[in-house]
Amino acid sequence: MSHDTCLPATALLGFGTMGRALATGLLARGLATPKTLRVGARRPDVARAHAEPLDLMALHPEEAACGAEVLVLAVKPRDVEGLLQRLKGSGALDHHPLVVSIAAGVRTASLADQAPGCALVRAMPNTPCAIGKGVTVVCAGPGAEAAHLEIAKRIFGCLGAVMELDEKHMDTVTGLGGSGPAFIYLVLEAMAEGAVMRGMPRAVALELAAHVALGASEMLLATGRHPASLRDDVTTPAGCTIAGLLALEDGRIRSVLARGVETAAKVAGDLAS
Ligand SMILES: NC(=O)c1ccc[n+]([C@@H]2O[C@H](COP(=O)([O-])OP(=O)(O)OC[C@H]3O[C@@H](n4cnc5c(N)ncnc54)[C@H](OP(=O)(O)O)[C@@H]3O)[C@@H](O)[C@H]2O)c1
Repeated sequence: MSHDTCLPATALLGFGTMGRALATGLLARGLATPKTLRVGARRPDVARAHAEPLDLMALHPEEAACGAEVLVLAVKPRDVEGLLQRLKGSGALDHHPLVVSIAAGVRTASLADQAPGCALVRAMPNTPCAIGKGVTVVCAGPGAEAAHLEIAKRIFGCLGAVMELDEKHMDTVTGLGGSGPAFIYLVLEAMAEGAVMRGMPRAVALELAAHVALGASEMLLATGRHPASLRDDVTTPAGCTIAGLLALEDGRIRSVLARGVETAAKVAGDLAS
């Protein structure tokens, strides 16, 4: 695995599912070391169980943030305001660090109210980041210049693909990219069940379904072709695939999946309130 130049001193505030995935990726890629990365947790005693195996120090958030040039906010959306107030009150924001927030639904304008003078970047990763196969969309907020965005891209680039979009798309990104893995798991489970119904062992069916999804996704990305055109390649006239596709369309799979993303995106926009 290639090792990149270390990031500036960074504090990871919130050490749950995403915080731990980020820490693991940053250390594995050499973008951070136990000397340059500190963990800030609401309950440092609890966080220590996960931090110590990585050789990381779990501190109170204001201790972790003190002097750090980059603060990554990885707490739940409802906890962001309280965390920033605590940091501000302790003087941990006085040196105006770069603040990178992964909290769904929390706008950079609201971060700017709570962290005045700091450069702000919003990012939306997803859980496959835990194995380096995630995708993260980043957007620049108030005060963020190209160099700040570059730091955010390096942080998330160690966990998978990185894309950049305007902030107006971020709730939609949450509905598609953040929630998307859950939708795909449901689709994989359902497809495997069709094979289980035909007598295939469940574990084999799930493995087969997962490889199918992986191959189809790689094919789409590698060829740049439209999914409808790729689908035509599989669909022999009077064959089994067209029969299966029509059964899926009878069940309105297209609008059901599209509405799933749309609904998740709408809810994402309200998560911080
Ligand atoms: N999970 C996903 O798929 C996903 C994808 C993209 C983005 N996100 C975003 O990532 C953020 C974190 O999600 P998650 O799934 O990692 O949540 P999580 O597993 O619940 O982790 C959040 C962590 O933040 C800690 N925390 C709460 N208040 C804190 C404070 N004031 N200072 C320091 N730590 C504090 C919590 O500690 P306690 O346990 O002590 O409360 C918990 O360990 C959310 O904003 C979410 O929108 C999540």
